[in-house]
This record gives sequence, C-alpha cells and structure tokens, in this order.
Amino acid sequence: MPALFEPLKIDDLQLENRIVIAPMCQYSATDGNATDWHAIHLGHLALSGAGLLIIEATAVTPDGRITPADLGLYSDANEAALARVLGAVRANAAMPIAMQLGHAGRKASSRAPWDGGQQIPSADPQGWTAVAPSPLAHIPGEEPPAALDAAGLARIRDGFVQAARRAARLGLDGLEIHAAHGYLLHQFLSPLSNQRDDAYGGSLDKRMRFPLEVFDAVRTEFPADRPVWVRLSASDWVDGGWDLDSSVAFTRALKARGCAAIHVSSGGVSPLQKIALGAGYQVPFAARIKAEVGLPTIAVGLITEPEQAETIIATGEADAVALARAMLYDPRWPWHAAAKLGAQVRAPKQYWRSQPREYKDLFEGASVGQR
Ligand SMILES: Cc1cc2nc3c(=O)[nH]c(=O)nc-3n(C[C@H](O)[C@H](O)[C@H](O)COP(=O)(O)O)c2cc1C
Repeated sequence: MPALFEPLKIDDLQLENRIVIAPMCQYSATDGNATDWHAIHLGHLALSGAGLLIIEATAVTPDGRITPADLGLYSDANEAALARVLGAVRANAAMPIAMQLGHAGRKASSRAPWDGGQQIPSADPQGWTAVAPSPLAHIPGEEPPAALDAAGLARIRDGFVQAARRAARLGLDGLEIHAAHGYLLHQFLSPLSNQRDDAYGGSLDKRMRFPLEVFDAVRTEFPADRPVWVRLSASDWVDGGWDLDSSVAFTRALKARGCAAIHVSSGGVSPLQKIALGAGYQVPFAARIKAEVGLPTIAVGLITEPEQAETIIATGEADAVALARAMLYDPRWPWHAAAKLGAQVRAPKQYWRSQPREYKDLFEGASVGQR
C-alpha cells in the first residue's frame, strides 16, 4: 500500500487516505449564503476520492469577509443555506467534510480576484471599514483598518464561537481555524501587522494571545469528539516578520491546548514578501514543525504529482498533503494518483464503469453486471 493511501486519524476523525482538498474561496455566496455553485463545486470535489474536503474560508462576522461574496456562517440564513448544500453532498458522497473558519481583518472589503482583487473603499455601497490589530493598511495608500478595542475583540471571539456552534449543528466533521495568509489571526501573530502595546501585541506571547483565545473558544464550543486544528503561515517571507521559529512555538502552544493538527502554508501578510516558489516549496516548513512538535501535519503548496506526494508522506515530512489548484484542474487527481501508485480509491457506483481496463482493482468494491 503506498503511504499516500494509508488511512490517517486526526483525533477521532478517520481519513481513508492522506490527500486533503485545501480550502478554496469561491466568492460565490449571497450575503454569506451558499448557492447552487457551492453544491456543484463541493459536490464534484466530494466525489474525487480524497480523504478530506475542507470548505473554503468562511467568515464568522460580516466584516470578516474578504469580498462581499464570501461564504459566511454568522446568520440563521447562512446556516440554512449550508444545510441545503451539505445535505445534497452528503447524500451522495461519504467523504468527511471540514470547514475553515476565518476573519479577513484588514484584507476585508476587497473585490473578487476576477474583478481585480483591489480594496473596496468604505464609502462604496459594497464596501466597509475593515478591522485589524493595528490601524496599518495592508498596502501603503490603501484605506487603513480600524484598530480593534476590547469590545471588538470580544465580538470577533464570539463570532468564532457562534460559527463553531452552527458548524457543529451542520454536522461538519472538523474545523480548521484560519491563521494564515495575512488574515486577521495572522495579523495578530506578525510583528509587521501587529504593533499594539497592550496585552495583545509586543512579545511573541502577547501576539499569540488572541489567536490562542480564539482557538480555546472554538475548541470548547465544538464537540470534543470532532477535531479542531489551525492553518498558519510558517513565514512572512519578510525580514523581521513572523518566522519558522515563531511557528514552532505557536504550534507547541496549540498542541498543549488540544489542537488536533497543523496545516502549514506561508505568506500573505505583506506585499514586500519574497517567496522562493517551487515544487513543494512549503514542505520544509511542515517537516520542521512536524519533527519538533509532533502534531499531525498537513503540507501544502505546489504539490502536484502523485510520486511527489507519496515521497512527502513516505519520508515522514508530513502526515497528509493538501492540494488546491491541482484539484480544480483535475478533480479526479486522487483516482489518477491511486492508479499510478497502485492503490485503491473510493468512486461513486454510478462511475464504476469508467474504471480503465489496465487498473482492474482501482475502485474499491466495484462490480458491474449486465443482462
Ligand atoms: C481559488 C483558490 C482559493 C483559495 N482560497 C483559500 C481559502 O479560502 N483559504 C485558505 O487558507 N487558502 C486558500 N487558498 C490557498 C490554497 O488553499 C493553497 O494553500 C494554495 O493554493 C497553495 O496550494 P496549491 O499549490 O495546491 O494550489 C486558495 C487558493 C485558490 C487557488
């Protein structure tokens, strides 16, 4: 059995294999409500044979949306819309489904990437004033965010708690807290975006305080038999920014609080970042965090080839690999990986007849009869 297709347990959550579908914003919601697009998008990914599907960054408050069309879980209508989508997906696919909960902080009030991705001014009917640890714009010249006061922090912490409660009711199998890519919790961690001089800024411990409070609050709210984990950016790729040593310390603190796994990405907090892009470029970050902290570790970033993914798992650099763009480009990537590596994968019975002649045992339990 190839290592990529060994089962994995994240706390009590059993994955059939080590392939994770990374969270991907769709900018296709209305007032935070999932639409038919989400049923189509999540539905086809849930038939892909991966071990876990993570739903896109989902805002815990309206002002935490990156764009006005982001998915949300802050209202009864949001919950009802997701219940409809999840009902359709679950009726037809057994894949476990987790959700990424997040808040965009100062990167909120933006246009969708296909509309240019720029900041929407607060005076625009579509825009709003973003909130952040400090009143520092993401890009010089942009409208700066409002710094969060104690009431603002409590409101956002409560937004995470309420969303976790809704996620529990929706039967989601796990929660990923988004502390990566320059969004709110990452903005607290990074000294580039957090210049507070109260209990939430300054030393590493103080910068970690709000993200850890949010973790604790979500962990307490979400059912104990379902995992909660965190996605972080292991480096800002800027001198003087958040770095790998800090990421190891943060992951240790999370582990002590019952975090089930760590999902290791990078970048996003500063336009000055100089990213050394290349195949599997973030895997060394995951490998060091896994080696030093020992939490189940998910690597992500330009993992595109089955053999590459197999090596990452087989050599112990990470416990699972997450794929984003490769899964959009080829939603049957796990089938093709199983075929290439000589493993079995789950496929819907409606598609069993597509099993290629040369891979007679590819689809788990497949049998086809005819009169
Ligand atoms: C369309 C798209 C939407 C994304 N949305 C999210 C998101 O909601 N949350 C997140 O943490 N990362 C998001 N990402 C980043 C991916 O999860 C992933 O970390 C990144 O694309 C690198 O992996 P890849 O090389 O396999 O694409 C998104 C990426 C893409 C391509």
